[in-house]
Amino acid sequence: MNYIKVRKDGPLLMTGDIEVRAADGTLLEKSDDVALCRCGRSGNKPFCDGSHRETGFRHDGCFEDGRAEPPQGEGPLRVTVRPRAMLLAKGPMTISSADGRCTTTRNSAALCRCGESSNKPFCDASHKHCDVGD
Ligand code: FES
Repeated sequence: MNYIKVRKDGPLLMTGDIEVRAADGTLLEKSDDVALCRCGRSGNKPFCDGSHRETGFRHDGCFEDGRAEPPQGEGPLRVTVRPRAMLLAKGPMTISSADGRCTTTRNSAALCRCGESSNKPFCDASHKHCDVGD
């Protein structure tokens, strides 16, 4: 199983069989442990570089998920970085707040990486109104 922990005021910590790819398919990272930026301010997007500590990014990591579904089988979690948009995650995954209060399971998820979504950690298309970069 793949896990995404939503850190309070910080990144998405992904563990499992994780592949991160650019929109053109270029492999950016293949690892069992990846921290992806969700504040929109990293100097090393899509990866977290610790900039969230200086930017005042705030989110407690908790959420509600109206689109929960049972995970289907085993397999990698493939994360595609959409230019000027979200992270698209495909594969069986459990998403939890780092404190464990909120949790869901999915087979696909659009995850915010601009820091502006009102439905964090999920994308609500707020990236259309901010500059998250490529
Ligand atoms: S979440 Fe760490 S730099 Fe954005």
